[in-house]
Parts: sequence; C-alpha cells; structure tokens
Amino acid sequence: MLIKRTRGWEIPERDATPEWAYSRRHVLAAGAGLAASSLVSPLDAAAQTPADPNAALYPAMRNMRYRVDRDITEEKIATTYNNYYEFGTSKTIWQAAQKLPLRPWQVKIEGLVESPRTVDFDDIMKAMKLEERVYRFRCVEAWAMTVPWTGFPLASFVEWCKPLSGAKYLQMETFSNPAVASGQRASWYPWPYTEGLAIDEAMNELAFIATGIYGKPVPAQQGAPLRLITPWKYGFKQAKALVRFVFTDKRPSTFWQTLGEREYGFWANINPKVPHPRWSQASEELIGAGGKRVPTQIFNGYGDFVASLYDNRQNERLWA
Ligand code: MTE
Repeated sequence: MLIKRTRGWEIPERDATPEWAYSRRHVLAAGAGLAASSLVSPLDAAAQTPADPNAALYPAMRNMRYRVDRDITEEKIATTYNNYYEFGTSKTIWQAAQKLPLRPWQVKIEGLVESPRTVDFDDIMKAMKLEERVYRFRCVEAWAMTVPWTGFPLASFVEWCKPLSGAKYLQMETFSNPAVASGQRASWYPWPYTEGLAIDEAMNELAFIATGIYGKPVPAQQGAPLRLITPWKYGFKQAKALVRFVFTDKRPSTFWQTLGEREYGFWANINPKVPHPRWSQASEELIGAGGKRVPTQIFNGYGDFVASLYDNRQNERLWA
C-alpha cells in the first residue's frame, strides 16, 4: 500500500502562491527602490530572445512532492539580487550578465564515462523531461529565498551520461569568457568556477539542474542556460552556466575551497549550529521580506531526503 508521509515543511499548495500569479503592478511596486532603468525585468529580456527553441517548454508542470512552508520570493527580487563573481562582486550584476552569449552552448561530458562527448544544450533539453520544483535556497552569507526552478533531476542527466562504475565524484565547471565576464579578468580568483558532488549526492532525488525559473527560461544572472541546484547545501555549491561535467574517482577541488578552505569546505551542508568562522548560521534573512529573519534548519529542512548520505561520512567536515 502506498502511504503518503507528510514531511515537516509540506503545506497545501494553495499556500505557496506562484509569484507570477501576482499582478505586474505588485511586482513593480516591490521593486520601487531600484533604479528606474532596472524596472524592465531581466526575465522579460530572456523570454524575448527569439532564437530560443526551448521557450515553449515553459512553464513545466510543478512536482508536488517538493513543497515549502514559506512564501515564494518575488521574481523581481530573486532575479536582481545575485552572486555571480564572473560579473562582479556586488549583488547587482544582472545587467552585466546579459553580455554572456547563451547560444550555441556546448557542454562537455568527460572522464569516467562510456563515451566522452560534447553535446549541445538543446540536445540535452530534448533528452530530459522538464518539471518545476519549489525549493528553499540558502546562501552561506545568511540570506535566503524560495524559488520555483524548472529543470530536470541531476540523476536523469547522470544516467544519460553513462558513467563507469569507477566514477565516485562529479565535477562541474562554469564557462570561461573573460572578454564578456569582467570578473574573470581578476587573476587572483581560480577561474573557471568549479564545483563537485559525490556521485551518491548527484544521484539523490533533490539534486537538480535548473534551466528555468518562475515558469520561464532561467535568465543569464541566475545561471543560464543550466545550473546546479542542491537545496540542502549552501548556495556557493550551486554553480551557474555549466559547460563541463567530469566523472572522476578523485574528489575535485572547488572554486571556494581553493580560495579559502577554512571557510568553504567540499560538503558545505547547511547546519544552523555550525557557524561560519566570521558569522553565525543560526538564522537567515528572507530577501524581499522587509528584513524578516527565520531560524535556519539543518540541511535547510531537507534532512529526510539527504541525511543518510552522510551516515558513513561522520569523520568528514560535513558543514561549510
Ligand atoms: N556560480 C558561478 N559560476 N559563479 C558564482 O559566483 N555564486 C554562487 C552560486 N553559483 C556563483 C555561482 C553563490 S555564492 C550563490 S549564493 C548562488 O550562486 C547565488 O545564486 P542566485 O544568484 O541565483 O541567487
């Protein structure tokens, strides 16, 4: 018999109103503090790209298995408050990120796989089935949002890549294009941005590749055309604009680990009881909610899905 188990964060779908169901005026009013020029939604710009053959795939059906217990962050807020060091260290890089050419977009699949190959993003989209998932998102800097991603389970993509049995980790790499990404001209950063997961983490049902957000293709500033989403880990794990997936038997080094191992570890799981060396992780500010803070939850509230991944890794530094 199938018994539906309601987890702690689950609430009726009617309580998590999709932000795009709000009126346009409401969205613009929320952005009133921003410069007038920024009132043109970057998402509108992305959606207008005529050459995007995938635009008709959005919005995708929402997967009701993944629910949240708080309001969805307004689109205007989530898409104009970003971390994307390739385009600068401020939170207001969304306009600069529009310079990134998004097609053609080639993705390399390498390392311990049956046949290493380079594929076009559009071919990945043809092979994957899109769905929408509302996830909490928690940055290591103690701000948080709740957004509806569209994309596909990373597990489906991993299976499509046909890894060999020796593959223990998956390394992911962001584009390199200093001509358009001014941040990549700063030589003290270990470009390109890289991240990694253990294979069992990559196969966990929560791990997701986002190609869309708010029912539209994901805009450049949030990682177009494809980015990693691991909601139980701090945001820095969730690398944007991926161009390379390498299956390997060795734990890969990552961008932030290389910059500061003491502050940013490989596992980077969310834990309110383990402070960052320079600040507490006990609570988080919900962006766009007038400074409202809420307690942070272990694994960002997703422990039922992922805690067992770490049963045999207790001697590791599991928290960022
Ligand atoms: N990916 C790349 N390529 N470059 C980055 O600077 N920043 C990370 C992550 N992915 C980053 C990245 C950090 S620190 C965070 S908190 C999230 O992106 C922010 O995602 P958002 O801009 O969609 O909110």
